[in-house]
Amino acid sequence: MKTMRKEITLLLIPAITLAIAISCTYHNEDDYFKDNPDICYTDDMSFKTDIYPLIESSCLSCHSNTNASRGINIEGYGNLKTHAESGIISKVINHESGVSAMPLYADKWSDCSIAKFDAWVEQGMKNN
Ligand code: HEC
Repeated sequence: MKTMRKEITLLLIPAITLAIAISCTYHNEDDYFKDNPDICYTDDMSFKTDIYPLIESSCLSCHSNTNASRGINIEGYGNLKTHAESGIISKVINHESGVSAMPLYADKWSDCSIAKFDAWVEQGMKNN
């Protein structure tokens, strides 16, 4: 019994050392959350870096200045804001009933992308 306890203690030393080393890699909480793919970071959403790239890659092929399906043009901050304000963008990306699920003919956005968009709206749709 005693030797087993000793072995456990010996195993714990490297384990604790490793845990301390890992916890020291990140010097502030924000970096830790931003770099961790398992955590969806939704604080202080940026229109330019967090939101518009999502819209550009999955919506503009059908909702731009030159091709506005259903009359909906969300190219650029002003156009996107107009439609985001009415709540319709959040409804379509969340696949709510009563609206057409978007993006059309493509996978639903990840939970994290949807959370980021909704957070940006909640944070006042900043043009940042
Ligand atoms: C492949 C083309 C295509 C893509 C990509 C696409 N849409 Fe659409 N969208 C359409 C068409 C066509 C309609 C109108 C037909 C319909 O309502 O089913 C529409 C309708 C809409 C509507 C009105 C829905 C309603 O029920 O009133 C909104 C809002 C919208 N799209 C937003 C988006 C957003 C946001 C994205 C990206 C996440 C997106 N769309 C991606 C083609 C597309």
